[in-house]
Amino acid sequence: MDADRLKTLPLFGELSHHDRVKIARWADEVDVPEGKRLVTEGAFAHEFMVIESGTAEVTHDDQRIAELGPGDFFGEMALLEHQRRSATVTATTDLRLVVMHERDFRAMEDELPEVARMIRATMQERRARNPGSIDPS
Ligand code: CMP
Repeated sequence: MDADRLKTLPLFGELSHHDRVKIARWADEVDVPEGKRLVTEGAFAHEFMVIESGTAEVTHDDQRIAELGPGDFFGEMALLEHQRRSATVTATTDLRLVVMHERDFRAMEDELPEVARMIRATMQERRARNPGSIDPS
């Protein structure tokens, strides 16, 4: 994908052009329709996603726990914690996503630790807000 498009995303906006080019090489841009289920609670995890445009909702045990919009990311918990998906994420409008597969997410963790730290900090805020959304199994 085009590295300059990543500038609008807070997670990547502060990176050097060189590092954004790396992210762009690791990521794909994907359009998905409203209503599509992107992540399913309890499923095995293979990717990390950032919303470029549109909105999505996070549900746990059929209850809505969060609404996500442009710049927000999801799918980090299962990858960072080596667990199954903690919640379901569904597109509530048409969405444009930046999608990173697990191996590329691991490369990003190794090569761009400042991005990994931001992702981890957000994960911890989310867990503090909704401790019930984490299934320790
Ligand atoms: P993961 O467990 O991989 O898959 C479900 C995702 O929903 C999870 O990662 C987070 O990205 C997201 N999520 C879970 N709980 C919250 C929350 N309280 N607020 C925002 N997003 C959440």
